[in-house]
Amino acid sequence: MPPRITPLAIATGILFLLTACVSDNSRTSGSAADHAWWKETIVYQLYPRSFKDSDGDGIGDLKGIISKLDYIKSLGVDAVWLNPIYASPNDDNGYDISDYRNIMKDFGTMADFDTLLKEMHARHIRLIMDLVVNHTSDEHSWFQQSRSSRNSPYRNYYHWWNAERGKPTPRWSFFDVNSDAWKYDSATNAYYLHYFSRKQPDLNWENPQVRKEVYDIMKFWLDKGIDGFRMDAFQFVAKDTTWPTFPPGYDKNIIKYYGMGPHLHDYLQEMNKEVIGKYDIMTVAEGAGSTLDDAMSLVDPARHELNMAYHFEGMDVGSHDSAYDLLDFKRVYTKWDSAFAQKGWVSIFLGNHDQPRMLSHWASDEPQYRDAASKMLNTFILTMRGTPYCYYGDELGMSNIKFDNIHDYRDIATINKYLELKHNGGDTAAFIQSQKRSSRDNGRTPFQWDATPNAGFTTGTPWLKVNPNYTTLNQQAQAQEPSSILNYFKKLTQLRHTTPALTYGAYTLIDPSNPNVYAYTRQYENKTYLILLNFKSHPSPIFLPTSIDLTTATPVLSNYPTHPPTTTLQPYEALIYDLTPTNP
Ligand code: GLC
Repeated sequence: MPPRITPLAIATGILFLLTACVSDNSRTSGSAADHAWWKETIVYQLYPRSFKDSDGDGIGDLKGIISKLDYIKSLGVDAVWLNPIYASPNDDNGYDISDYRNIMKDFGTMADFDTLLKEMHARHIRLIMDLVVNHTSDEHSWFQQSRSSRNSPYRNYYHWWNAERGKPTPRWSFFDVNSDAWKYDSATNAYYLHYFSRKQPDLNWENPQVRKEVYDIMKFWLDKGIDGFRMDAFQFVAKDTTWPTFPPGYDKNIIKYYGMGPHLHDYLQEMNKEVIGKYDIMTVAEGAGSTLDDAMSLVDPARHELNMAYHFEGMDVGSHDSAYDLLDFKRVYTKWDSAFAQKGWVSIFLGNHDQPRMLSHWASDEPQYRDAASKMLNTFILTMRGTPYCYYGDELGMSNIKFDNIHDYRDIATINKYLELKHNGGDTAAFIQSQKRSSRDNGRTPFQWDATPNAGFTTGTPWLKVNPNYTTLNQQAQAQEPSSILNYFKKLTQLRHTTPALTYGAYTLIDPSNPNVYAYTRQYENKTYLILLNFKSHPSPIFLPTSIDLTTATPVLSNYPTHPPTTTLQPYEALIYDLTPTNP
């Protein structure tokens, strides 16, 4: 039974929380509590291919996004992170760039881009672009020249290994059909390195000319007025080019063996001096190394590298398994919060274009739970310390599409893994089953605008099938329903913006050993908020310290119409309370 709680106990508890967290409020230079616009920003990540098609070719485009800017504004978000929109042959949906200063034809023109940026800024929405510079497309002119001759001035832009030296030391590749990151190229009798697909050769960051090219590209976009970069696969750019042999099993720990290579910090500090430090921008690295020290080394303000990074340890807790352990989840997020309690900054996300839909992954997309579960997960993202990244469609509760057939997939990661398995006589049926849970295409289906054909996304044939649940689950329907996931999401963004404690407040885990409920407080200056989240589909009791009395706390927001007078949470229930005494 939960303990009985008295008003005195509440006051004592708050005093305890205030004392425990006092160090967080220090305003020393570089402290986590130092204000910055990019800490107060709510980021909306938008997958351009799937947001809105304006010309009926089945592919989302910039004009489509422009037509929906008022919707984006209405969400209460402050910035959009746009996945790559540069010229690309689309081997990996734009993460294989053939021209960094041009727009992908599918998406429109540079004039469309200029309009998009102007219209976003007119609405006070910032634009964060993807910077993909671990690799280019093999169709980039640098690579074409590089592969044409061993004497090309571009030869050193990439990593080559001449075949007369024998085979290079093995390296593992994410998307290669043989998982082999070295591809033989007969034109010059040499192998080139590609950590991702064969059409994504890795740039050689040891070459100062390559780094200068990257800085020029960054300046090109920053001078147009964009507000920052999400730095793709950045922890992998620096390589040990003596190519040491890794121990067996290294491919199971890619970040440890490939990440944070020699000179990464030198490169970042140079980039900061040459570019980043000259603009007021937001910079976020994909990946944060494999230790908390790695992460801090990227974002410690004193080091002048990046603003923030996003870590994958949270995603790893539940990888490919819906029955993840909430205790692990809480441990990971609490650990990462404590790492940045004094200085530095982090990002909070539960899904993106490389992950399945957060609802299917972290909760339940069963129709009876969708509403409460989506609201609960959004509550988590928008009440934790760290810049929240909200993935398009999660404000509606979009879920995994769960294709039965390999021919429905478009993602190179799924397709090449399937081909590799098939080639080696593996269990392709089991693979298709697992992809229903984990494939990246689950999170890339077209946005569900309304109940018209193809969810109002396109008048043509969508490049990736629309989730058939769009007839009932769509933006138009939710806009009209006051208690919808969409309208709850807007309340959350508003609350985040008007409650500094949710951005800057110290985080304290409550009821740590509760396997079903994630409970924490956020405390800042004289305000304390309590957040209670039931991550399970069954009613779950919460055991609060005697210092907290829910009967006297002020309810702020919840995802159920009413909360019974008990300390048992309803399935996927989310509750936010203001614990600040009204009559101190
Ligand atoms: C990053 C991107 C992912 C892409 C890969 C290669 O992880 O988020 O979508 O496939 O880098 O660029």
